[in-house]
Amino acid sequence: MRIGILGTGHIGQTLVLKLSAAGHEVKVANSRGPETIGPDILASGGRAVTSAEAMKDVDVAVLSVPLNCVPNIAPLTAHLGPDTVVVDTSNYYPERDGHIDAIDSGQAESLWVALELDRPVVKAWNAIGSDSLSRLGTPAGSPDRLAIPVAADSEQDRRVGLTLVEDTGFDAVDAGTLSESWRQQPGTPCYCTDLTREEMPAALSAADPSRSPKRRDIAFAAVMERMNGSGARDPGADFLVRLNRTLFM
Ligand SMILES: NC(=O)c1ccc[n+]([C@@H]2O[C@H](COP(=O)([O-])OP(=O)(O)OC[C@H]3O[C@@H](n4cnc5c(N)ncnc54)[C@H](OP(=O)(O)O)[C@@H]3O)[C@@H](O)[C@H]2O)c1
Repeated sequence: MRIGILGTGHIGQTLVLKLSAAGHEVKVANSRGPETIGPDILASGGRAVTSAEAMKDVDVAVLSVPLNCVPNIAPLTAHLGPDTVVVDTSNYYPERDGHIDAIDSGQAESLWVALELDRPVVKAWNAIGSDSLSRLGTPAGSPDRLAIPVAADSEQDRRVGLTLVEDTGFDAVDAGTLSESWRQQPGTPCYCTDLTREEMPAALSAADPSRSPKRRDIAFAAVMERMNGSGARDPGADFLVRLNRTLFM
């Protein structure tokens, strides 16, 4: 497939590498211009372009930008054809993104994104930490392969989302529609807790919308306390998964 990716951060750079390696034709952009995208990100065949070019003539557009940048990219996605599938990796952290009243009132994050962009989106790769995404993918059929939930409203969007997640080395689990996608948001049992396909359905069912925002904010505060300030120690690659399993499951 022809794939355009916006974002070369923790998640976007790994998606460029993995989707290119899987045989897709990948273009990628960040906010600063193609000359700032290093050869390490393009090592599997991805091509650095402007953000306008990344959103032109593609079958799939992957948005891997902070949630509060989504309104800025709406003019770019407005030029996509109706058949282009838009995949959103974003998550909402009020401390980072600023308060968004609709999401604070319970609207699923990716429904808010779909409204901002005025087109349907697929929610995928949001519920895996960047370290797990880059290190823990395995070929299909591997024992204990980790899983990633995918939510979408149309069959076509769902199929594309599930296929691409599999191409990045993870079992793709159909998590239902966008209106149910709060079940895979920060603070829920499946959120960045590195579950398998067998474990995923029970985790999605156990999500509690009244508790997950509180748990999300506790986890965010714990991460900030741990990472920031003088004398901060690197808590190790699995810190987030350990923290999230303790707080969310
Ligand atoms: N980090 C994680 O473990 C994780 C896990 C799952 C989901 N997510 C979600 O996925 C999204 C991306 O996360 P991240 O950690 O990869 O973020 P990040 O490291 O902060 O990177 C964000 C990227 O978005 C780019 N960007 C911002 N505005 C843009 C625009 N108008 N056009 C093109 N590119 C633009 C930035 O460009 P510059 O490089 O030029 O600044 C940067 O490359 C977030 O919504 C996050 O919540 C993150």
